[in-house]
Parts: sequence; structure tokens; C-alpha cells
Amino acid sequence: MPSILITGVSSGIGRACANLYVTRGWVVIGTVRDASKRPEGLDVRVGLELLDLSVRGSATALAERVLAGSGCPDVLLSNAGFVQFGAIEDVSAEEFERIYQVNLFAQLELIRGLLPAMRTRRSGVLANVTSLGGTMTFPFFGAYNSTKWAFEGVSEGLWHELKPFGVRVKAIEPGFVETAIWRKALPGARADSPVTELGGSDAYRPFLREMLRFEAGITDRTTPEAAAEQIARAIADEGDRLRYPVAAYARPIVTARRWLGGQSMMRFFHRRWMGSDSG
Ligand SMILES: NC(=O)c1ccc[n+]([C@@H]2O[C@H](COP(=O)([O-])OP(=O)(O)OC[C@H]3O[C@@H](n4cnc5c(N)ncnc54)[C@H](OP(=O)(O)O)[C@@H]3O)[C@@H](O)[C@H]2O)c1
Repeated sequence: MPSILITGVSSGIGRACANLYVTRGWVVIGTVRDASKRPEGLDVRVGLELLDLSVRGSATALAERVLAGSGCPDVLLSNAGFVQFGAIEDVSAEEFERIYQVNLFAQLELIRGLLPAMRTRRSGVLANVTSLGGTMTFPFFGAYNSTKWAFEGVSEGLWHELKPFGVRVKAIEPGFVETAIWRKALPGARADSPVTELGGSDAYRPFLREMLRFEAGITDRTTPEAAAEQIARAIADEGDRLRYPVAAYARPIVTARRWLGGQSMMRFFHRRWMGSDSG
């Protein structure tokens, strides 16, 4: 039976992917941070492993456990991650370090842990969940988006380096998926919150609210289950394609940028997001 290791199966996209793959008869190992309770809604057939990406060495230890136990999975779906919200000026050095640790360095640890086995076996898929925000940057998501740009760059590098060894690399770029990730990043913040309650420094708050209004106005979000179907299709693609925009808005935005050019797209979104075109 084919096997897949998925990070972050407690909720959202990771949980939906885990459920999808077990129903298709795959052996699925999923990672969680809290071993005290099984994630709600997660199929009982999903095997669980502990992983806290904020702890250095945790991903290496997981790779060793998996290799020693069930052996190298056919697919590693590097999905776990979180969003840090705020103006770049307001995000502290410690917060930057933390998000790079979780969204990039720990992902690399896990990939490095499993890669030699895939390379030697000359098969396997590294599916890296980046983001539409790994190809463009949203104001107040700069810290988060930059980790995803970095993961995109790493994915492209891996694509070149592993192609001769038969290991396929897929960068999964979700647009908008209805999960808890935004609520976790913006606890209590709403588009109609008084501007003083939005956090961050005074200068940015009016723009921050514009951005929240924009965010609240997004009604078209893909369900995690539908996103999982698209991700599974990308993983199953035997070709050498690297990038897969999935879920709401991803493909139209990528296409629009191709036609309009990057700079025009930035100006267009700047007006929508920041409510003005100039300083
Ligand atoms: N939702 C979207 O619209 C969207 C768009 C673009 C990209 N993405 C990307 O998709 C991936 C999945 O996100 P999601 O939307 O499904 O969000 P989610 O429901 O919040 O799921 C994130 C998963 O990552 C885990 N996680 C977070 N920090 C961790 C850490 N330090 N160590 C180990 N696990 C950790 C979470 O575990 P806990 O429950 O323990 O926190 C959870 O299982 C992320 O990489 C995200 O950046 C999502």
C-alpha cells in the first residue's frame, strides 16, 4: 500500500488530506502537537506522530522514528504552518525567527531527514504547501509570505537537484481555503473592530482595517476537502510540473499576473488593499 506522511493533521488542509488518503487505502501518518487528544474529525485509521516544528531537532527525530518504524513514506506532504499578521515594522525579531523556524527551517529538517532514503530508492514525492502568498506579498502578511517565498525557492532548488534521482517535487500554492488559520492569526480582530483594538502601531492601523475589510469581503473560499482533492491530483501527477495553484483565487491571480505583469498587479492590489494609490 502506498504511504504518506502529512504534517499538521489536527485541522484544516492537513486533516482533509489525511482523511482523503486513508479512504483511498493509503497508509497515512499524520503529525500533531498535542498527543493528549485525537483531533476531532480525523479518521481513526490515520496514525499519529508528535511533532512541534517550533522545537529544533523535533523534525529530525520524527524522520528517524518514521524510517526506523514504517520506513520511508512514498510521499511527504509538508503542510503544517502558521500565519503571523502585522506590519513588518511591528513584527519583532523573535516573531520573525519563530515563523521562519516553523514554516521553513523545520520543514527543511524533515525533508533532509527523509530525502536520502527517497534519493537512494529513486522514487518519492516531496509536496510542499507554500501559498499563493509565496508568489506575491499581501500587506501585513509580509513575515508569513516571505517564509512561503523562501519555501518556494527551496522547492525549485530541490526540483532541479532531485529530478535526476526520480524524486518529484511539487509546490502546492493554495489561494483561499476555509480553515482556522486566519482566525488563529487574528484572534478577535474583525473588520468592524474599533481601529484602536487592531493592535500594531498607530500609523498602520487605518490600513490594517482596510485589509481586514478586504479579507472579510472574501466570500469565495474553497473547503479543505475540495482543496485536498486538488492537492491529491497534484501529488499524483507523474509529470515534472513544479507549481500547482489550488483553491479559490489562486489560478485566476496567477493568470492575471502573467497577462498584466507583476508591477501592474501590485498597483491594482495596493489600491484595493490600502485604499489609496499614493503616500
Ligand atoms: N487556509 C488557507 O487559505 C491557506 C492559504 C495558503 C496557504 N496555506 C497553508 O496551508 C497549510 C495548512 O494551513 P491550514 O489553512 O489548513 O491551517 P490550520 O487549520 O491552522 O492548520 C495548520 C496545521 O499546522 C499545524 N501547526 C502549526 N504550527 C505548528 C508547529 N509549530 N508544529 C507543528 N504543527 C504546527 C497546526 O497544528 P495545531 O492545531 O497544533 O496548531 C495545524 O495542524 C499551512 O502551511 C498554510 O500556510 C493555507
